[in-house]
Amino acid sequence: MSDLVHEDTAILRLTRRWQTMGVFVLFLLVVAFPVYLAVEKTRRAEALTAQDAALVSAGHQLWSLNCAACHCVNGEGVDAPALNSQEFLTGASDQQIHGIVAGGVPGTEMPAWWNEYGGPLTDQQIEDLVAYVRSWQKNAPSRPDWRTPGSGG
Ligand code: HEC
Repeated sequence: MSDLVHEDTAILRLTRRWQTMGVFVLFLLVVAFPVYLAVEKTRRAEALTAQDAALVSAGHQLWSLNCAACHCVNGEGVDAPALNSQEFLTGASDQQIHGIVAGGVPGTEMPAWWNEYGGPLTDQQIEDLVAYVRSWQKNAPSRPDWRTPGSGG
């Protein structure tokens, strides 16, 4: 009889131990998941910022080599539109800029740059350029005359 009681206590103790462990594991999941999410979000944001910085820096070089001659070193324009202007940058989406740079503006000085259209640049390089031009936006001046910066109008 006393042997049976002893066995019951052992089983009870074992059950309690498993219960405690279950609660502990549940607690870990409940706490660890939000922590994981928070860390993952920061990590992803940092990766995106780094990626954007790399695009902008590649775009800067391409700009100096290919675009600065007409649109000027910092996009202030003279014979070509001043792309470094709030009016242009708020009005044009990334896709629109990409499209214009790829295809050029027929009948003007602005050539097609995409190699599929006979230009010297790859799609990726045009993407870099768009990121670079877009990076001006936060400090771009207001230039209502951005289309004809050299004309005084
Ligand atoms: C030989 C001179 C020249 C070069 C080099 C040049 N552009 Fe242009 N670009 C122009 C002119 C001129 C226009 C205006 C065309 C027009 O009359 O609509 C223009 C227009 C543009 C526009 C459109 C602005 C609008 O009207 O919405 C973008 C964007 C642009 N250029 C980007 C670039 C980029 C990026 C490069 C370098 C890869 C570049 N351009 C190189 C002359 C040039």
